[in-house]
Amino acid sequence: MKPILVSGIQPTGRLHLGNYLGALKNFVDLQNSGKYGCYFFIADLHALTENPTAKDLNVHIINLMADFLSIGLDPKKSIIFQQSQIEPLQELKWILSTLTPVSELLRMTAFKEKVVQALKPSEREKITKEKFEEVMEASNFGLAEYPVLMAADILIYDAKFVPVGNDQLQHLEFARTLARKFNSRFGKTFVEPQPLLTQSPRVMSLKNPEKKMSKSDPASCLFLDDSPEEIKAKIKTAVTDSGSEIKYDPKNKPAISNLLKIYTSLEQRTLEQLEHEFHGKTYSEFKAKLAETIVGHLADYRKKKKSLLENPALLRQTLRQGSGRAAKIAARKISEVKKKIGIAI
Ligand code: ADP
Ligand code: TRP
Repeated sequence: MKPILVSGIQPTGRLHLGNYLGALKNFVDLQNSGKYGCYFFIADLHALTENPTAKDLNVHIINLMADFLSIGLDPKKSIIFQQSQIEPLQELKWILSTLTPVSELLRMTAFKEKVVQALKPSEREKITKEKFEEVMEASNFGLAEYPVLMAADILIYDAKFVPVGNDQLQHLEFARTLARKFNSRFGKTFVEPQPLLTQSPRVMSLKNPEKKMSKSDPASCLFLDDSPEEIKAKIKTAVTDSGSEIKYDPKNKPAISNLLKIYTSLEQRTLEQLEHEFHGKTYSEFKAKLAETIVGHLADYRKKKKSLLENPALLRQTLRQGSGRAAKIAARKISEVKKKIGIAI
C-alpha cells in the first residue's frame, strides 16, 4: 500500500499566489506523482477559531473546493473532503486531549501569536500579568485546542507524510509526540507523521518585500482569481529596488528577487536563465513579461473555476462524496482506538 499523505487548508478567504506556490501547487505535484495515498481537506473547524460569520464561512468552503479542483486536485486521484463531516474526528480529538498537558498548548507559538494579536504593538514587548489575563479573556478555547484537532486530522488516517509550511512544524511535532505517547501507553496504533518540506518559496508582499504576501493586505497580494487586468496593475505597481539591474540578490534587491522567485516558480526556467534573458532590460519590461506569465499560468484555473462555480450543487456533491470516503476510513480507525483504550465493550 502507498504511504498516506494528508494536508488541509483553512477556508478563511480568497487564495493568493503565496498559498498557491507555498502549498497548493505542491499538493497537486504530490498527488500526480502517484507515490502517495492522498487526502486533502477543507479545515472548516479550524477556521471557526477565527469566528467568521456563517455566510462567509459557507461561501469560503465552496470557493475553496472550487479552488482545489480548478488547481488540479482530482477526486479520482485523491480523497478531497470537508473536515467537519468526519464525526470520529471529534472522538479522537477528545481522547488525544486527555493525553495533552494544558501548559503545552499554551506554549505553542501559533497560539501565542494569535492571542498576542489582540494587543497593540506597543504592548507586545512586555506583557504584564494583567495584560495576559486580558488577552486570555479575548482568546477562545478552540485556539488552544487547535493542535489537538490537527493531530487528530493526521493520525486518524495513519498519515506518514504531511506537506506543511514552516509555520506548522511545531504542530506536526506535537502530533508526533501524541502518536508516540499513545503508542507507548496503549500499544502500536498510530503512525508517527513526518513533515514533507519541499522547497516551496515564501512569496513576499508586492508592497513590502520584507513581509510575506498575505490576504490581510489585499493590495500587496495577488489573488488567484484576480482578473488579468488586476494582476497586470498589481505587478506594474509592485515596489522595486534602487538601481536598474534585474538580478537575484535577496539581500540588496529584495523586491526584484521576490519577483524573480515568483517567475522561476511558474516557469521551467532557472534564476540564471531569467537574469540572462532580462539582462539590459528595464524593470517595466521585466514586470510586463512577468505579469503575462502569471496571467497565462492562471488562465486554465480561472476558466475552470468560473465554470465550476456555475454549478455549486455539483461541488457540494463532490465534497460530500469525498467526505463519505474519508469518514469510513476514520470510523475504522476510531474503533481500533476505542478497543485499545478499553471503552469498547
Ligand atoms: P494568509 O497568511 O494569507 O492568511 P494562510 O495562513 O491561510 O495565509 O496560509 C495557508 C497556506 O499557504 C499555508 O500552508 C501557508 O504556509 C501558505 N502560505 C501563506 N502565505 C504564504 C506565502 N506568502 N508564501 C508561501 N506560502 C504561503
Ligand atoms: N493548521 C493548518 C494551516 O493553518 C491547516 C491544517 C489543519 C492542517 N489540520 C491539518 C494541515 C492537518 C496539515 C494537516 O495551514
